[in-house]
Amino acid sequence: MHEQLRWHGDSEVGEGLVDLAVNVRLPEPPEWLRRELRDCLDGLAAYPDVRRARRAIAARHGREPDDVLPTAGAAEAFTLLASALRPRTAVVVHPQFTEPEVALRAAGHPVRRVLLPARDGFELSAGAVPSDADLVFVGNPTNPTSVLHPARVLRQLATPGRILVVDEAFLDAVPGEPESLADTRLPGVVVLRSLTKTWGIAGLRAGYVLGEPELIERLRAVQPPWSVSTPAAVAMVACTRTEALEQAAANARAARADLTDLLAGLRAMGVQVAGTPRAPFVLIRVPDGLGVRSRLRAAGYAVRRCDTFPGLGADWLRIAVRADMADFLTALRAALPAHRGART
Ligand SMILES: Cc1ncc(COP(=O)(O)O)c(C=O)c1O
Repeated sequence: MHEQLRWHGDSEVGEGLVDLAVNVRLPEPPEWLRRELRDCLDGLAAYPDVRRARRAIAARHGREPDDVLPTAGAAEAFTLLASALRPRTAVVVHPQFTEPEVALRAAGHPVRRVLLPARDGFELSAGAVPSDADLVFVGNPTNPTSVLHPARVLRQLATPGRILVVDEAFLDAVPGEPESLADTRLPGVVVLRSLTKTWGIAGLRAGYVLGEPELIERLRAVQPPWSVSTPAAVAMVACTRTEALEQAAANARAARADLTDLLAGLRAMGVQVAGTPRAPFVLIRVPDGLGVRSRLRAAGYAVRRCDTFPGLGADWLRIAVRADMADFLTALRAALPAHRGART
């Protein structure tokens, strides 16, 4: 069970394969960021200090520094939440990134799964979550469905006595960051952000939590000392500057254009696409999905299998959105069972 939940896009990539499995958008960090990272190496003898990063992130979201906890990637926040909190009923809304469930289970908390059905386009309704759930994890936009849930529905889920965790790891890749709950302090609402996808720094581990100061303090109390390294803290300051935010917004608009092209190509060949994709990845349903995945690998493309996500099966595949995917679409067409049948 755990092994399946621990399968990630990076398990799919390999020598000589075009990586459409990992959703990190840039192949490498931009030069201005690499320069800042290089420059900070001279200071590595000192233990890290995240106070500047905290202030910079707070300013970026119009919040107080006490509302912010820098973390070693958004992933660390799942572990902090699972170890700081004592939920009676923890709910993970699936299909979604599996690490929240892994962290809860590892900390000994039973997990109740809410499975959003494909027939509803994997959309969330407030009624889908049991009223006695006192800790709820939702992704927005959700990995792997690419669905962006309305802020209105999320606010309905933030009921008294409950902590609602909204994982916004991909929201900076959606133009205008719509439906975000990051910029307002809301009772019981915790927002997670990641810098790793947009800036090509998954190896650096940089993310943060936004929430009420009392909860932030509880998470900080269980965080290992110096968990956020000096280079990660430097990246947090650099990536929250106005110029960086403008560049992120431009990248998000480019990703949107690439997404539109990919969707047009998929629809033209009759491939079923889940929901209304808003993130820089698309979930598709094809007969014999695992066979299609293998044939795509043989053709030089790594896509993400999705049978490891609760609520999905072998027919689902996730594809990262990149610029100019015409060759990939040709390879996909050749890998589809109908097409293969037609040729034989
Ligand atoms: C939805 C989602 N949340 C969080 C993470 C973890 O992000 P980070 O690299 O910041 O730990 C991932 C990574 O794939 C993800 O897909």
